[in-house]
Amino acid sequence: MNELNKFPSSFVSTQFEQYLSQNEIQTISESLAHTLNQKYNGEELVIIGVLKGSIVFISDLIRHLKGIKVYVDFVKISAVGRTKEEDGTIILHKDIKTNIHGKNVLIVEEIIDTGRALFFLKERLKQSSPRSIEVLTLLDKPYQRAVPLKIDYIGKKIEDKFIIGYGLDIDEYGRNLSEVYFLKYPN
Ligand code: IMP
Ligand code: MG
Repeated sequence: MNELNKFPSSFVSTQFEQYLSQNEIQTISESLAHTLNQKYNGEELVIIGVLKGSIVFISDLIRHLKGIKVYVDFVKISAVGRTKEEDGTIILHKDIKTNIHGKNVLIVEEIIDTGRALFFLKERLKQSSPRSIEVLTLLDKPYQRAVPLKIDYIGKKIEDKFIIGYGLDIDEYGRNLSEVYFLKYPN
């Protein structure tokens, strides 16, 4: 097997099926950015991305933001233990370095599933007294939601399936793909 077959750059597999094309993703990103441009026109906005999955989406989203003073920071969080239930442990691996006191904050995710990690993050950030705090996600899977998380902006609601690509991975595979793919099995 040569190296190209080992790590294909355009993903062709019987296990994955393309779900969103590059064009579709760009259209959704631009539409979300347009909404933000109107809402935060002339203001400051601290975007807090959740590592690692959101990096590709954030890099596209912020390039469409105009007339806003944009700050970008990142957190790394993960849920351990009883992941489908409301109670369980959330680990904060990396915190922000930006002072968000009195600032407009926007948490940005590429996908929200149970919502537990984001709910924890939002409650924690609120303690720093931001002026406002909102949540934006490119994709939403509302079926396994375990907490009453308010999502202010949703790019697209998708089926309850596992996906990869455009920042999303399966064991670090697929993050660099430009399109989003459904995993056919074991979904
Ligand atoms: P939750 O909303 O706390 O359950 O966690 C959502 C996080 O789980 C996302 O930010 C992703 O990192 C990961 N995740 C959820 N669904 C998928 C998926 O379909 N593919 C890859 N990662 C996913
Ligand atoms: Mg994520």
